[in-house]
Amino acid sequence: MINVLFVLVVSLSLLASMSSHEHYEEAKLYPFLCWKYEVKLSFLEREHEQLHEEAEKVVAAVEELVGQSNPTAEEFATLKTRLVSACFGYDSLLRRHLLEEEDCVIPMLLELTPQEFEQYYDASAHEVAKWTKQTRK
Ligand SMILES: [Fe+2]
Repeated sequence: MINVLFVLVVSLSLLASMSSHEHYEEAKLYPFLCWKYEVKLSFLEREHEQLHEEAEKVVAAVEELVGQSNPTAEEFATLKTRLVSACFGYDSLLRRHLLEEEDCVIPMLLELTPQEFEQYYDASAHEVAKWTKQTRK
């Protein structure tokens, strides 16, 4: 049971952290890079949506497992397998997404001058949104 609890805690913590991270990317990082380099990163946003769908499967499996008050050994094994499968599905998609960001997003950030990076870093998402409505710098 300790292993299952560990998986539950790690899974939910990871999903919460990733949700916050994705929000930052969609609210500030991607709009900035799209504006700065005149690129489209909508495929990365679609992957975020897919990650949310996979995350919902993990949460559903967690809820199903936690919702069983006194499962038989067979029921528990089935629920545990479903949770592990959902976690692997999420992990597989996350790994692919992170590799794509490493190939696409990181190089663009590394192209910025120190001054450009500082300007980006210090700006709020609201300020970045204003920039994207202006002519590209
Ligand atoms: Fe991302």
